Amino acid sequence: MSSRALHLLIYASRCKVPWGDQGPEVASILDASIRNNGQADVTGLLLVHDGWFVQALEGPMQAVLTTYGRISADPRHGDCRVLRAGPAQGRSFAEWHMCARALTSADGAILDTLAMRGAFEPHRLTGPQALRLLTAVRGVQDSAGRRAAG
Ligand SMILES: Cc1cc2nc3c(=O)[nH]c(=O)nc-3n(C[C@H](O)[C@H](O)[C@H](O)COP(=O)(O)O)c2cc1C
Repeated sequence: MSSRALHLLIYASRCKVPWGDQGPEVASILDASIRNNGQADVTGLLLVHDGWFVQALEGPMQAVLTTYGRISADPRHGDCRVLRAGPAQGRSFAEWHMCARALTSADGAILDTLAMRGAFEPHRLTGPQALRLLTAVRGVQDSAGRRAAG
């Protein structure tokens, strides 16, 4: 397999940042992500919800694994669990070197789809469920972007 073959990794982790500091910390994570992922040709999406992170990283395999290795050592979260890692046909999050999204109650339909309203337990998601969750979040983000642009 070519080293440029696309790889997609999705993990879930517990956020260790106190609630009040989450906004600035997520902003600083995004700054570093956009800078580093842009250079490494990595794209993805970071979901922040209910004390959890769920993140997709896609790009050349070595770049994705190196990026995940750095992220998983970050003390701002813990209990990282890889939900899916393997080849991908195409990019699902090609628009963003990284995009952070918090779910609001208005996004409840996403959780309903996954029967997770009330108990958000991303550690228990299968790989396909995790990808479905993040692509649903991408859909909301896309239409929010279009509303903002329009
Ligand atoms: C939940 C979470 C997601 C992160 N995602 C990324 C990422 O996609 N890319 C990245 O380079 N760093 C990411 N980071 C930050 C890294 O752990 C690390 O702080 C950063 O890459 C260091 O970059 P620098 O050496 O350029 O400052 C993430 C951190 C956390 C806690």
